[in-house]
Amino acid sequence: MNRALGVLISGRGSNLKAIIDAIRRRELDARIAVVISNRADAAGLDHAIVAGIETLVINHKAYATREEYDRALVYELRKRDVALVCLAGFMRLLSPVFVDAFPNRILNIHPSLLPKYPGLHPQQQALDDGAAESGATVHFVNKDLDAGPIVLQQSVPVRPGDTADSLAERILEIEHELYPRAIQQTLANFEAGR
Ligand code: GRF
Repeated sequence: MNRALGVLISGRGSNLKAIIDAIRRRELDARIAVVISNRADAAGLDHAIVAGIETLVINHKAYATREEYDRALVYELRKRDVALVCLAGFMRLLSPVFVDAFPNRILNIHPSLLPKYPGLHPQQQALDDGAAESGATVHFVNKDLDAGPIVLQQSVPVRPGDTADSLAERILEIEHELYPRAIQQTLANFEAGR
């Protein structure tokens, strides 16, 4: 079975690191075929380089349209025959060109209990809403932002005095456990033909 992952990042890459570590611990039976960043200065690239994983920087600013950019991403991912695309802090909206190239084959992690607080600044949205809890969601990516079918979700409490940063940190801890588990479950479902 093809268990090759393509991971897309834009920044810090702590979820990428969690995926790499889970593979190393054999909790996740997969391999990362390539890590692609749209930014050359994404700190997360270093996690891949240290682990000996191929990295590519494909800068969106070098493409005239979103569709052209997405075609370049699709080309590189297809070339490596990835079974699953994992968005891990990839800060670009994907056009139908990308989504249609990998139907039900793209996962994203979002720091809220979707469908609550989609889009930007979900931790601040939770605080502004006076929520008693928030959390993280791994979901399939479709054409609607943060709205595809949910794979796994886990909650954390919102504590008195929380800031967006302190809540983000608490959520991030569970993201690192949730994302590898969701990938493992998704690959197993592919194999079972579900
Ligand atoms: C995470 O909070 C993730 O849920 C969101 O972007 C952040 C990425 O963090 N989509 P990192 O780059 O994985 O550290």
